[in-house]
Parts: sequence; structure tokens; C-alpha cells
Amino acid sequence: MNAVIYVSKRGNTKKLAHAIAKGAGVKAQSADHAANLTRAEILFVGGSIYAGRISGVLHKFLQNLDQKQAANVVVFGTSASGKSIRDEVASILEPKGIPVAAEGFHCKGSFLCLNLGRPNADDLARAEDFAKRTCKSGL
Ligand SMILES: Cc1cc2nc3c(=O)[nH]c(=O)nc-3n(C[C@H](O)[C@H](O)[C@H](O)COP(=O)(O)O)c2cc1C
Repeated sequence: MNAVIYVSKRGNTKKLAHAIAKGAGVKAQSADHAANLTRAEILFVGGSIYAGRISGVLHKFLQNLDQKQAANVVVFGTSASGKSIRDEVASILEPKGIPVAAEGFHCKGSFLCLNLGRPNADDLARAEDFAKRTCKSGL
């Protein structure tokens, strides 16, 4: 079984999470409601960058994540710059023995007057396809 967990303050990453979940054939769950997460073969983790960092809620979720709950993690997200949160997520999970895939899905997200309308329909279609391919390949 795979799972999709995300943190989204303004809704951009939430849209992506639903597209990723559709591709993975599961339901997306917000990290603050994910206490009873059972073992996922692939855990898709989504988040954004705020003042150069992932959110405190996502940081706490990752700190509490146990090796028994996730065999592999794949990161997705949005940010104004388009920068990925993959390396920050890996720096928390990999020391605990939870592997984080080098490839994830990241796109620009709207912020103030930047990137209006992102993620857009094309971003969401690509995210769904990415999740489908990732689940099929099984990592
Ligand atoms: C308070 C705040 C700080 C932000 N800081 C950054 C930043 O340092 N770098 C960046 O690329 N985007 C930054 N952004 C833009 C967000 O990463 C972007 O809007 C993202 O899509 C928000 O995702 P969400 O709607 O899921 O919360 C910031 C947004 C907010 C609201």
C-alpha cells in the first residue's frame, strides 16, 4: 500500500497532493491528521518552502516518522522559486534509515503576484503521471 501525506498553508501543495494521490490510487492526507499512518511501501511527502525552510508542521511530522511506517519516501511540492524540498526532507529521514528517492515532483506555486495560477492544469496532469509511473516502477 502507498500513501500521500502533505502540508499546505495556502492550498497550492494540497492541489498537487490530490493529483499525486489520484495517480497513486489512494487518498491524500494532511500531515496533522496522519497520526495512524500504517506502513507504506512508497510514502509520498508533500510540502513547500517558507522563508527558506519547510514548515514546522512538516518538520515535526518527519521527525516523528518511524522506519516501520515508510519503506521509501518520494517528495513533491511547490515553491515560488521552484526549488525542491527534497534535500531538506532527506536530511531528516535518511539518518533514520528511511530512503528518500533522488527524483521527486516539484513545480512553481503562486505567491503574491508571482506564478499566478500555479500549480496549473498541466502541473497537475504531470504530477498525476509522475505518481502513476513511480508506483508502477515500485522504486
Ligand atoms: C510566508 C511565506 C514565505 C515564503 N518563502 C518562500 C521562500 O523562501 N522561497 C520560495 O521559493 N517560496 C517561498 N514562499 C512561497 C511558497 O513556497 C509558495 O507559495 C507555495 O506554493 C506555498 O505552498 P502552499 O500553498 O501549499 O502553502 C513563501 C510563501 C509564504 C506564504
